[in-house]
Amino acid sequence: MPDYYFETVDLKFELGEDKTIVSSKIAVHPRVEGVSSPLVLNGHDLKLVSVKVDGNELKKEDYHVSSRHLTLSSPPSSTFTLEIVTEIYPQSNTSLEGLYKSSGNFCTQCEAEGFRKITFYQDRPDIMAKYTCRIEADKSLYPVLLSNGNLIEEGDLQGGKHYALWEDPFKKPSYLFALVAGQLESRDDTFVTCSGRTVVLRIWTPSQDVPKTAHAMYSLKAAMKWDEEVFGLEYDLDLFNIVAVPDFNMGAMENKSLNIFNSKLVLASPETATDMDYAAILGVIGHEYFHNWTGNRVTCRDWFQLSLKEGLTVFRDQEFSSDMGSRTVKRISDVSKLRSYQFPQDAGPMAHPVRPHSYIKMDNFYTVTVYEKGAEVVRMYKTLLGSSGFRKGMDLYFKRHDGQAVTCEDFFAAMRDANGADFANFLLWYSQAGTPRLKVTTSYNPETRTYSLKFSQEVPPTPGQPVKEPMFIPVAVGLLDSSGKDIPLTTVYNDGRLQTVASTDEPVFTTVLRVTKKEEEFVFSDIAERPVPSLLRGYSAPVRLDSDLTESDLFFLLAHDSDGFNRWEAGQVLARKLMLNLVSDYQKNIPLALNPMLWMELEAY
Ligand code: BES
Ligand code: ZN
Repeated sequence: MPDYYFETVDLKFELGEDKTIVSSKIAVHPRVEGVSSPLVLNGHDLKLVSVKVDGNELKKEDYHVSSRHLTLSSPPSSTFTLEIVTEIYPQSNTSLEGLYKSSGNFCTQCEAEGFRKITFYQDRPDIMAKYTCRIEADKSLYPVLLSNGNLIEEGDLQGGKHYALWEDPFKKPSYLFALVAGQLESRDDTFVTCSGRTVVLRIWTPSQDVPKTAHAMYSLKAAMKWDEEVFGLEYDLDLFNIVAVPDFNMGAMENKSLNIFNSKLVLASPETATDMDYAAILGVIGHEYFHNWTGNRVTCRDWFQLSLKEGLTVFRDQEFSSDMGSRTVKRISDVSKLRSYQFPQDAGPMAHPVRPHSYIKMDNFYTVTVYEKGAEVVRMYKTLLGSSGFRKGMDLYFKRHDGQAVTCEDFFAAMRDANGADFANFLLWYSQAGTPRLKVTTSYNPETRTYSLKFSQEVPPTPGQPVKEPMFIPVAVGLLDSSGKDIPLTTVYNDGRLQTVASTDEPVFTTVLRVTKKEEEFVFSDIAERPVPSLLRGYSAPVRLDSDLTESDLFFLLAHDSDGFNRWEAGQVLARKLMLNLVSDYQKNIPLALNPMLWMELEAY
């Protein structure tokens, strides 16, 4: 816990050609009134010009400055004002962090720890403050001056300069601060929110690129509407800016009301952009917009909780893209990405849990595990709770934590409490690295008319975690009859205990089995004939599945499964089996021939 909190931060930037002067005025209050402890501020290669407490310049012996910190040895023990002036050199900043110049424009990137390259600050996400930002710059070189929140004042200054004063009414961590100054033009539009407020939308680029922002604007409006419809989340300011810059480390950044994007994720024209480019723009515009609630209004207590905002927001952008296009196609592409990038990470020397235990440089922890596996973990809550239970959990999460910096457990607790759910050892998904292997063996008993699925699971050792506990794996299952139709499911026995699957008269065709032990058996009753099982429907958990399904079962699923993802998956598993058969035929000098069933089943369509 920090010893001091910051209430308000008033920043002033005097942007110049050789240097920029940053003045910050912070209202500080100690966590415990009356207790003074040293106040340690982060700073990265800053030139300190002056530091004042309650208007009085500090004496040399009252503070200590190093290349990474400014420490006030005994600040006042009750609320005080801290004023710091620093000098920075954006023109020679090539790190793409802090304040830098990109194609003649000033811009910032503060996540994760870039704000400390702008001014001395407690640069950690649990320090949430209200900001104002005054920008002064040459008017002809930098006609557009942007920061977070609302523009409350602008005007001309002497010597060909002008200024703009921005005020962000929402508390935010320093990593969400942003400033842009330069020669930019905008495409403007409006969005009327569900409560009837008109929000001005602006997408800023160099003037020649404005025609290429139509799809980005369409995507933004679609994202705003989707978040209202699906999560009841309304945008909270009257202005939303997006800036496209050519030099940007990442894809895009969710700064409060001033998202900054790598140009390639904003600009598209039908002549040059592929369908994939259009889809990527839709997803990333959605992603950064969705952070306004999952990341900004509710943020991370510390950077170990990164998946709290990134895993959840990736899940939200995946759902958005699914609803705007084909759910199955989107799921196939997301699972393919997980398997080709995250599985290797989880199986290699860089394996780490969704919530890492340690880091050296935070920037190295924006990984496919934190992002994509993190999104799978969020998806599992939805699979277990259903859409309406998941929504209840999200509602409670915002009700409890709006304006706070929280942890993955807080998210877990909201999901659990809103649904009175028993999530067993689900939290292991955050702490245990490695991709679980799940084996299934099936058997049908015609006498008892029961069908059994026996599961066993194993989590491989990963660096620092030689021994693993069994995980809580939600396995969505359907059973197909011999005509290829889903069998209505009524009851299932879990290790002998009866569970009712259908709670209403509505037939249920997919049920989510909760595999929590190393070995566990599920038995379906009242099954008239040997079914073909459709296992892990929709890819309900990020595991490697091994089953005893035969080639003919897979052909059958490929032709008939009502779950689109599993129909594709059956084709994948089958194609792999057939190819390996051909390899072995070749080695035995058997003439190569493709299994004719493949064409027959496909022609059945
Ligand atoms: N918050 C991140 C951007 C970021 C990442 C800033 C790492 C600083 C360090 C942003 O929300 C993000 O995740 N962007 C992704 C795209 C997204 C669609 C997954 C990116 O930039 O690749
Ligand atoms: Zn993100």
